[in-house]
Amino acid sequence: MPDSDDSAVSESASWRRYFLSRAAASDPLPWNDPTALTREEAQCIQSSIQQFQLGEGARGSRLLKRGQDFANATENPHFVDALALFVKEEQRHSACLLRFMQRESIPAAFSHWVDTVFRRLRVLAGLELSLRVLLSAEIIAIPYYRALGAATRSPLLQAICNRILEDEAAHLRFQASMLSRISARRPFFADRIVNGMHRVFLLITCVVVWFEHGRVFRASGYARAGFLAETFWEFDRLENAVGRGPLLARIPEAEVQEERSASLARAENVTVESRD
Ligand SMILES: [Fe+2]
Ligand SMILES: [Fe+2]
Repeated sequence: MPDSDDSAVSESASWRRYFLSRAAASDPLPWNDPTALTREEAQCIQSSIQQFQLGEGARGSRLLKRGQDFANATENPHFVDALALFVKEEQRHSACLLRFMQRESIPAAFSHWVDTVFRRLRVLAGLELSLRVLLSAEIIAIPYYRALGAATRSPLLQAICNRILEDEAAHLRFQASMLSRISARRPFFADRIVNGMHRVFLLITCVVVWFEHGRVFRASGYARAGFLAETFWEFDRLENAVGRGPLLARIPEAEVQEERSASLARAENVTVESRD
């Protein structure tokens, strides 16, 4: 197990700050936009959005337990704090999709075989396998939300997908940061083997995702080859980032200030309103 490392601790601390700032950010989504899904659009996305809403809502209790063990072993408490905030951000995606579904009278799904398989795989082994299974879903989420946003004419759904895509892009960097910490002392050849196995798993996952969500991809103009190329491009980009030095969460200071001021303003409004 790696020992405590100042750069790893500050990297985890920067991710913790990043997730806190995102949690405090305002929700600029156009919930009052009157455009509703057409019947054809609703039929096209219904079962697909139900599955993603279910998957985004995982509590991640085992992942967090393993993260806690790793944080204890490496004396890096920010590691598990950042991980917990990341899980909460995923749950916010789930809540946002659910709110949209309720608005469009799309019922929530309570189980699906793909979600069950992913949850069971994450339970099987250690922290790295849990993260790599999760990462496969994260990578596929990028082309998926691009497709979902383009599959209908709903400005609200497009805005939700854009917001989730912003978060997911950061999630991939965060995952690369965590994998860098976990695999820091592994020999190069072992990395290659893990990488190869992960590629095979990702390919199988892509086949399943295309089978389950191909309708949404096709509605937005994606071909199967384009979906695969985009997914593996994201995977290669992430693998190249693993182990290449600190992956700090870069948040423009102006954005942090803006979000901080907005949260303060909201807090003041709540106080004033509650006095009235
Ligand atoms: Fe997500
Ligand atoms: Fe994510």
